[in-house]
Amino acid sequence: MGFWKTWFSTSESTAASRTGAFEEMSADVMGNSSPSSDRIVFSTEREIDLYELEELCDAVGWSRRPLRKVKKAIEHSFLVATMWQVRGNQRRLIGFARATSDHAFNATIWDVVVHPDFQGKGLGKALMKYVLKKLRSEEISNVTLFADPHVVDFYRTMGFMADPEGIKGMFWYPH
Ligand SMILES: CC(C)(COP(=O)(O)OP(=O)(O)OC[C@H]1O[C@@H](n2cnc3c(N)ncnc32)[C@H](O)[C@@H]1OP(=O)(O)O)[C@@H](O)C(=O)NCCC(=O)NCCS
Repeated sequence: MGFWKTWFSTSESTAASRTGAFEEMSADVMGNSSPSSDRIVFSTEREIDLYELEELCDAVGWSRRPLRKVKKAIEHSFLVATMWQVRGNQRRLIGFARATSDHAFNATIWDVVVHPDFQGKGLGKALMKYVLKKLRSEEISNVTLFADPHVVDFYRTMGFMADPEGIKGMFWYPH
């Protein structure tokens, strides 16, 4: 499969994967600091090298999770969105997000990450817009997520509200 080294691939028939195609971002997202040959590409294809994803998560300091569980989580997600830097015939995974859903009303976004080399250029926002566009195209109208305290304002810039009408997210963990 060439440089699309496929560690797993699923044909799971979620609507989001059926519509999966590579979509190119307008070059101005990257500003002037990026070589003109670079392109930013978004995809809902699920062909992801899990080790490359692990490297991306390592780069932002997330704790490692067992790859077999990451693979399962991805397989069972409604939507998997990836963001790639494409330079010539090379591509590099620079962003990731996924959403679980009841396929009708609700979706929850998880694991939003942009590689530190690419942060602060509007790409996180672009990735979230891409995810929201895909969810809206599936007529999902209630989108939730769990924001780490230091990124609450990042999500606010996209219209996410904390505790709308006093509704609280509640958690249960095994003791
Ligand atoms: C959070 C993250 C995805 C943001 O990606 P990014 O590409 O740096 O964000 P953008 O450049 O698109 O920023 C979009 C807007 O959010 C703001 N923003 C970005 N990161 C922010 C932060 N940590 N806190 C507050 N605001 C933030 C930007 O200033 C920008 O505001 P503007 O639209 O008014 O200019 C990225 O920093 C990241 O991957 N962090 C580590 C992983 C993480 O914490 N993920 C979230 C888990 S809940």
